[in-house]
Amino acid sequence: MPSTSPLTTWLVTGASRGIGYELVRQLVSSSDNLVVAACRSPEKATALHALKSTSKGQLHLVQMDTGDFDSIRASFGQVEPILGEIGLDYLINNAGVTVQDTPFTLDPEALVSTYRVNAAGPALVSQVYLPLIEKSKRKVILNVSSGVGSIASIEQLGLSGMFPAYAMSKAALNMLTVKQKGARPDLIAITLCPGHVKTDMGGPNGALEPEESVAGILKVVTEATSADSGKYLRYNGETIPW
Ligand SMILES: NC(=O)c1ccc[n+]([C@@H]2O[C@H](COP(=O)([O-])OP(=O)(O)OC[C@H]3O[C@@H](n4cnc5c(N)ncnc54)[C@H](OP(=O)(O)O)[C@@H]3O)[C@@H](O)[C@H]2O)c1
Repeated sequence: MPSTSPLTTWLVTGASRGIGYELVRQLVSSSDNLVVAACRSPEKATALHALKSTSKGQLHLVQMDTGDFDSIRASFGQVEPILGEIGLDYLINNAGVTVQDTPFTLDPEALVSTYRVNAAGPALVSQVYLPLIEKSKRKVILNVSSGVGSIASIEQLGLSGMFPAYAMSKAALNMLTVKQKGARPDLIAITLCPGHVKTDMGGPNGALEPEESVAGILKVVTEATSADSGKYLRYNGETIPW
């Protein structure tokens, strides 16, 4: 039975800092949202703990390392008591890592570990949390990708020979999204680039503050309909060529 809860429920991975943290911060500013913030080291997530102390009980921290499959499976046991009855409206697969490499010097172990966190992890998180998503009326999976995963944009971005491991992992995440849509037309699965954002990953020269990127992301996901499933979008709703 789909939930009739008045709360909108969210699970955000990689919530300790950067875009993930900003997603949680904006979400808990509304008492309509119940947010599960997943991070690999909750004991070190001081910003999230500070947010929790000022939120009105609608923020829960859980441990999840998206590169550790046992950790992903174990996290369900922490989340089920929170969302088991009402289900999960929005799963945001945000956690990600990057590596500075080139096609002919890359470390294959780094390629595999990048792929593990950025592609295999989100695939398993979506699989493990599907029973909670099925209880929701919204059923949205947002995979936080990158424009760097777009083969069609390589020349335009001027990144032809750069960051192959990261680009390959995000192209794989894009394909996962299309496959999720194909397998489950009742879900809304979207792959999205947050833009070049000033975070630890994006660096100080990012074009966007996290606040602007995340405001756009939340507008895109909350307004998404089934017609948007399988799309590759920017934080401002524009379509990215594959
Ligand atoms: N910033 C940009 O310009 C930009 C552009 C395009 C796409 N993106 C994508 O946006 C997402 C967020 O990026 P960001 O800029 O916020 O990066 P960030 O500042 O480096 O933060 C990355 C977040 O992911 C978490 N994380 C990394 N590995 C993890 C793992 N194995 N398990 C769980 N959490 C893990 C980190 O947790 P810890 O604190 O534990 O390390 C941190 O919370 C990523 O998927 C990234 O690829 C970012």
